[in-house]
Amino acid sequence: PAPTIKLLSGVSIPVLGLGTWPLDDDEAATAVEQAVSAGYRLFDTAENYGNEAGVGEGIRRSGIERDQVFITTKFNKQWHSVDGVRKAFEQSAARLGVEYIDLLLVHWPNPDQDRYVDAVKGLAALREEGLIRAIGVSNFKPAHLQRVLDEGLVPDVNQIQLDPRHTRAESRSFHAGHGIVTESWSPLGKGGDLLQDPAVDRLADKYGMTPAQIVLRWHIQLGLVAIPKSANPLRIKQNINLFGFELTPDEVESLSALDTGDADITDSDSFGH
Ligand code: A2P
Repeated sequence: PAPTIKLLSGVSIPVLGLGTWPLDDDEAATAVEQAVSAGYRLFDTAENYGNEAGVGEGIRRSGIERDQVFITTKFNKQWHSVDGVRKAFEQSAARLGVEYIDLLLVHWPNPDQDRYVDAVKGLAALREEGLIRAIGVSNFKPAHLQRVLDEGLVPDVNQIQLDPRHTRAESRSFHAGHGIVTESWSPLGKGGDLLQDPAVDRLADKYGMTPAQIVLRWHIQLGLVAIPKSANPLRIKQNINLFGFELTPDEVESLSALDTGDADITDSDSFGH
């Protein structure tokens, strides 16, 4: 299993987990079961992905104890109210087949309806009752987070699109300033050609690792939690086999230098992830 880091809530989260978008229930169940045997303990899904039941099924098939895995899911904008979040929790927990959820996220801020602060209040109430262990948000900009902080609420994590070409420096430093852990979605660059970048390939050659392993190592060395999606058994194994080598600080820097300056990518509700 991957090492863990501690969230503000006091709960430990593995630094590497399995992303599950856009797998369907059957594909997710198979991938999750394989991932448990490969050592994964963190699984990331969402109401919007339509595969929570599959993720729960994969965990049960694997035979691992509930308290040995960390399950993250996310809810849609229709639930952005204190009572709505409770409904969202109940429905996700039922689909997953679990009594509690480790980390529940507001999937997008949806500033158009401007009810995300109430959604975070709803999360805090569920945590109070022990129904969820940690609270968080996804695709929030610092300005959205600030509104939440102004209410005296601090999310444990903000999950955003982040990879060496989109290093999100402003978000990362804002999060760090408040003890919020940054989680990277599409950590491998969303199926783009990041894995063919010469700067990545040079390091892959040097360490005898794959480009994906180099990029995932970059996330981990920056203190991020990465959730690469794979449905391929070999790549599932490869993506968690990262804990036997280390990039130098200069090498981490050289990957951060791939940033395109495109800081404002998918922080909207226009994207289906
Ligand atoms: P596959 O499921 O066939 O492995 P991200 O999580 O950054 O969005 O990346 C997911 C994409 O990257 C998927 O298309 C996935 O395809 C692919 N992928 C996952 N792991 C690797 C890897 N180790 N090497 C190359 N491609 C990978």
